[in-house]
Amino acid sequence: MVKQKHQLMPLFTFSCILFLLSTGNVLDAAGAEPSQALNRKFSLDGILRSEESEKYAVIFDAGSTGSRVHVFRFDPNMDLLRIGQDFEFYDKTNPGLSSYADDPQAAALSLKPLLQEGQAVVPEELRPQTPVKLGATAGLRMLKNGASDEILQAVRDLFKNESSLEYKAEWVSILEGSEEASDMWIAINYLSGRIGKPYPDTIATVDLGGGSVEMTYAISEENAANAPKFSNDGEAYVHEKYILGTKYHLYAYSYLYYGQLAARAEIFKVSRNSTNPCILDGYHGFYTYGGETYEASSPPSGSSFKKCRQVTLKALKLDAPCEHEKCTFNGTWGGGGGEGQENVYLASFFFDIAIEAGIISPNVPSASARPIDFKRAARLACVTKYEDVKTVFPNVYDEDLPYLCMDLVYEYSLLVYGFGLDPFKKVTLVRQINYQNSLIGAAWPLGSAIDAVSSLTNWRMYQY
Ligand SMILES: *[C@@H]1O[C@H](CO)[C@@H](O)[C@H](O)[C@H]1NC(C)=O
Ligand SMILES: *[C@@H]1O[C@H](CO)[C@@H](O)[C@H](O)[C@H]1NC(C)=O
Ligand SMILES: *[C@@H]1O[C@H](CO)[C@@H](O)[C@H](O)[C@H]1NC(C)=O
Repeated sequence: MVKQKHQLMPLFTFSCILFLLSTGNVLDAAGAEPSQALNRKFSLDGILRSEESEKYAVIFDAGSTGSRVHVFRFDPNMDLLRIGQDFEFYDKTNPGLSSYADDPQAAALSLKPLLQEGQAVVPEELRPQTPVKLGATAGLRMLKNGASDEILQAVRDLFKNESSLEYKAEWVSILEGSEEASDMWIAINYLSGRIGKPYPDTIATVDLGGGSVEMTYAISEENAANAPKFSNDGEAYVHEKYILGTKYHLYAYSYLYYGQLAARAEIFKVSRNSTNPCILDGYHGFYTYGGETYEASSPPSGSSFKKCRQVTLKALKLDAPCEHEKCTFNGTWGGGGGEGQENVYLASFFFDIAIEAGIISPNVPSASARPIDFKRAARLACVTKYEDVKTVFPNVYDEDLPYLCMDLVYEYSLLVYGFGLDPFKKVTLVRQINYQNSLIGAAWPLGSAIDAVSSLTNWRMYQY
């Protein structure tokens, strides 16, 4: 009886919400007016209160060097709650799944302790509604002969046999670059309090990894409707997402081989294994990436900003044929631009190199800068001799020393010539985001958790 009484209240709230929602398109981020936004906040709060209980999500990040488990805990308003000291439970194990190519069972079993720990964090009565997901990145993608399929299948069996968490076969998969990118977008926008806001108030993310660079931002309904369906490599450009009850069209694209370490190789390819004008004066060595070795030597005249920019722009393939309007580089559609691209956050190597080059100070979680700052630093780096670079740029890591001119010219060119940013545009370099007085690293597992919890609640019913 008591239980029934309990359920009446939410039902009542539910009909109020329905009434509110039927008065306008209040949940559509693309069309929200200020007054509608107010309505939305009110109605969303109503929905969320009616959910009452906490929610958890258990996310496995299966990387090439190790596997990690993240458990996130949300209150009924979908704010993060602490688990112990931190806003997540985290543990890892080495090596990664791909090291068990010949033994799928052993691969799955390597996750068992993490699964048990992760599950133990979730209160028993909530386990059947708590999603457990695994996203495999680079390492598993490269295994041959169906080995990765067998490993994923063994992991599915493990999840099914050994846990009482909510499990779906498709939640154990290899993550496409664009999925990783859109989950990263969700994480950054969530931590910055932007989820639920109209798309012009969201943050665009550019994540410069070692192997690939990803750009993600919310686009208008109209832009999404006119978008090309697939890129040259067959991935969807636009992903329709319902995030905590708000609908977004996310443009997300991962440029393979344009991450910082891969791009060095692309730039060496242009100089055809001879001297390269991006290498600091006085350095003669080799650079190895993806099993290939490239000569990394400065010309007798030393490095040069202008000549380095020339080879870098060739490596970017700005003039590759592109059948769409508003292309970026290497024949890729850029998402059409728009207001979702106004606040730009740059992450990973952008952040690290900015510290190494003295553009921002070390030990800050985030900082503001402009593309032109990368150009200024590049001009200085490109006239610095290899023997002096540690004195001029004391923060550079030893393994990056010969490449400082190259990396800075690349990052500047990528932003301005590749993505078309104004050199004077203010952007944010980000490593961590301040969330309720704690610094949290923005990474895809949090976005994946929010996406999973969003899709399990029935908020999408409220879309009109
Ligand atoms: C899970 O159970 C299936 C059949 O129920 C079995 O074939 C498989 O070996 C089990 N896997 C693990 C990892 O325990
Ligand atoms: C550029 O695009 C082509 C066609 O999609 C792709 O094969 C290639 O890997 C991309 N990257 C580079 C660096 O050429
Ligand atoms: C470049 O030269 C080095 C040594 O001369 C050689 O080992 C390497 O295979 C060459 N790389 C390419 C891409 O041709």
